[in-house]
Amino acid sequence: MKIVEQIKLPIVNEMELFEKKFSDSMSSKVALLNRITHYIVNRKGKQMRPMFVFLVAKMVSGGEVNERTYRGASVIELIHTATLVHDDVVDDSNRRRGFFSINALWKNKIAVLVGDYLLSKGLLLSIDNEDFDLLKIISVAVREMSEGELLQIEKARNLDITEDVYYEIIRQKTATLIAACCSLGACSVDPDSDNVEKMRKFGELIGMAFQIKDDLFDYGDEAIGKPTGIDIKEQKMTLPLIYTLNNCTKEEKKWLINSVKNHNKNKKRVKEVIDFVKSKGGLEYAIEIMHKFQSEALSILNSYPESQYRSSLQLMVNYVIDRKK
Ligand code: IPE
Ligand code: IPE
Ligand code: MG
Ligand code: MG
Repeated sequence: MKIVEQIKLPIVNEMELFEKKFSDSMSSKVALLNRITHYIVNRKGKQMRPMFVFLVAKMVSGGEVNERTYRGASVIELIHTATLVHDDVVDDSNRRRGFFSINALWKNKIAVLVGDYLLSKGLLLSIDNEDFDLLKIISVAVREMSEGELLQIEKARNLDITEDVYYEIIRQKTATLIAACCSLGACSVDPDSDNVEKMRKFGELIGMAFQIKDDLFDYGDEAIGKPTGIDIKEQKMTLPLIYTLNNCTKEEKKWLINSVKNHNKNKKRVKEVIDFVKSKGGLEYAIEIMHKFQSEALSILNSYPESQYRSSLQLMVNYVIDRKK
C-alpha cells in the first residue's frame, strides 16, 4: 500500500465527504468563475492540510469529528488554493500541480480576482456558520501569510537575508497555515483545551520542515508538477544559498551576490550557482535543519497516547520530509 493511502486509512470517509463539500463551497453564478474553479478542483493537490485537520481532530477527541471540522478543513483548503493562485502571479510561475497555472491560462488580472474570490468564500463559510473561534485561527494565518510573502520580497530586494530572517519568512508564509490546520482540528472538537496550542506548535514545526523541503525541490530537477530552479531567478534566498553565503570566501560571496543580483535570468549562471551551493554542502545543511524540525514535531506527538490517528500523524510527519512532490 502506498504511504499516502496508509496515512489516510483512519480518515477515508472524512476525506471523501470533504472533497464533495470542498468542491461545492466554490460554486458561483458567474460562468467564467465556475469554469476556473472546476479546473482547480480537477487538479487537486496532495490535500495535506485537510488531512492534518481530520487526523488531529480525531487524535484529540478519540475518533470524533463534527460539522465544524469539515467546514474548517474546507476553509483551510480554500485559503491554501487562493494563496497558490496569487503566489503563481507573484512568482511569475506558469505551472502548478502538473498543469498550467491560472495566470498562465487566464492571465494575471483574472488570477488575482479568482484568488480574492476563493479567500472570501473561505471566510464566509466560517462567518455564516458562526465558527468564530475557527475564523480567528484562520485569519491570523491569512495575515501572516501575506506578511511572509512581503517580507520575502523585501529581502529579495536587498539580498541581505540571514538564517533567522529566512526562518521568520517560512514560518509566516507556510508554517502558520499548517499550524492553523492542526490547532483548528483540535479546536473544532475540543475548544478551550491545551490541545489547541499544543497542536498549533506541532503544525508550525511541521510547516517549517515542509517549506525547507519545498525549497530543496527547487535545487533539483525532479518532476514535481511545478517549475524548479526558479527561486534564484526570482531572487528568493533560501536556506541552501544562505548557508553557502555564510560559508565561503569573500570572493565567492561577491560572485554569488552578483549572480543573484545581476544574472538571475541567465540560465547558465543560475545553474553554476546551484552547482556551487551543492558543492559547499548547502543541501546537506538544509536537510539537517529540516530533520531537527521533524524530530521536534515527533516529540510533541509522543506526548499523546498511542492510537491509529497518532500513528498516521507520525507517518505524515515523515511523509513531509520524504515526499517526491
Ligand atoms: C505548496 O503547497 C505551497 C507551499 C507552501 C510550498 P503544497 O505542496 O501542499 O501544494 P499542493 O496543494 O499539494 O499542490
Ligand atoms: C510558498 O512558497 C508559497 C505560499 C505560501 C503560498 P513558494 O513560492 O516556494 O511555493 P511554490 O514553490 O510556488 O509552491
Ligand atoms: Mg511560488
Ligand atoms: Mg517553492
